[in-house]
Amino acid sequence: MVRNGSSPLGSIAAIRFVGAQPTSIVCADVRRYARNMTLTSTDAEPHVARNYSPIPVTAATAEGAWVTDVDGRRYLDCLGAYSAVNFGHRHPRLVAAARDQLDRLTLTSRAFRSDRLEPFCAALAELCGKEMVLPMNTGAEAVESGIKVARKWGYDVKGVPDGQAEIVVAHGNFHGRTTTIISFSDDPDARNGFGPYTPGFVQVPFGDARAIADAVGENTVAVLIEPIQGEAGIVVPPDDYLPRVRALCSEHDVLFIADEIQSGLGRTGTTFACELWDVVPDVYLLGKALGGGIVPVSAVVADRDVLGVLHPGQHGSTFGGNPLAAAIGHEVVDMLSDGSWQQRAADLGAHLHARLRDFVGHGVVAVRGRGLWAGIDLEPEQGTGKEFCIRLAEHGVLAKDTHGSTLRLAPPIVVTEDEIDWAMDRFAEALDFSRR
Ligand SMILES: Cc1ncc(COP(=O)(O)O)c(C=O)c1O
Repeated sequence: MVRNGSSPLGSIAAIRFVGAQPTSIVCADVRRYARNMTLTSTDAEPHVARNYSPIPVTAATAEGAWVTDVDGRRYLDCLGAYSAVNFGHRHPRLVAAARDQLDRLTLTSRAFRSDRLEPFCAALAELCGKEMVLPMNTGAEAVESGIKVARKWGYDVKGVPDGQAEIVVAHGNFHGRTTTIISFSDDPDARNGFGPYTPGFVQVPFGDARAIADAVGENTVAVLIEPIQGEAGIVVPPDDYLPRVRALCSEHDVLFIADEIQSGLGRTGTTFACELWDVVPDVYLLGKALGGGIVPVSAVVADRDVLGVLHPGQHGSTFGGNPLAAAIGHEVVDMLSDGSWQQRAADLGAHLHARLRDFVGHGVVAVRGRGLWAGIDLEPEQGTGKEFCIRLAEHGVLAKDTHGSTLRLAPPIVVTEDEIDWAMDRFAEALDFSRR
């Protein structure tokens, strides 16, 4: 059967079914799956700037770990909006918190106080074992804010000469898309054509603590790294790396800033990826899952001696810490407070990784990650990561390439073991050995 053209929401991908099989799998209800069809991109979004190249699936609704497209086909979401949907789509507790707040108060700006902000910040600070929170919206804003705070701390507290502050970052980093952040990216797509670039950053190889030691000078104010690099392909550093970075930062009076925007809040089987190595940074940058998959909520979290350098007028955001965001973020923090989500991610992650390891040598070169977070390098015969993700979507599983032939899985933590097994069976079907 060939169906081309439009959908209830307008022109979307052309979809050709190539021998549709009825599927009866994990759950007994009447789920419809996207298996055994071919997805091809058409110009489905002529009015949307082309800063993304999405897999041609047009989502209409979602619940838990499942997404339904405009034609009613269901997909197991193994991307979880890059970890922003850690608790599943439309988790009832989060939706209830949002609804309740929508009926009370949504926005004050920071010109006035709201009754939501201080309780949220107190709860988040406690979760992080820190004293203060600077609430923002997107991940990139949290990173920008962390950079500003580190520079200000360097000048006010450490005594670095004005305008001389340096921040050490890692090759392969991904911290967002603003002009300052792409200034210290080594991804040509992210960086080229957007200069002039912001100075004050020194790049060193990721995972090499000695390189950080060599790069730290008297004007260094911070080391900014992802504890596990996400966009680089879920790159896990050597076990001694983060402890050595921690020690170096303490020794040289440098702030250790951990960008846990993608790795944090349960994803790796712990609240923060840094915990996997018993490391506590000076500054946490948080985002994505903090908004419960509902609104953008991000934060810089640190002790008073760091965040206390900011004074009124020096930084801000109209929406940062708004009552709706604070209510949802507070519920997220409450959900994480008994450790059960983290434990679930650890247990299910062990299962996911065990299943993925079986593919090594059978279409897959290597698998990395922690918890419910996996980077998978495909054998060259499998084509690009994007081509594979399209095949995977045709079998009813949503995932996303990071670059080249690497893809990433980050399913919502509500996913079940049976659903992971189902996804792994679809993964096996999506592997293509016909080109060998
Ligand atoms: C580690 C990390 N930091 C920062 C960001 C930027 O977050 P946002 O897209 O919300 O600006 C991302 C996004 O993927 C990320 O993975």
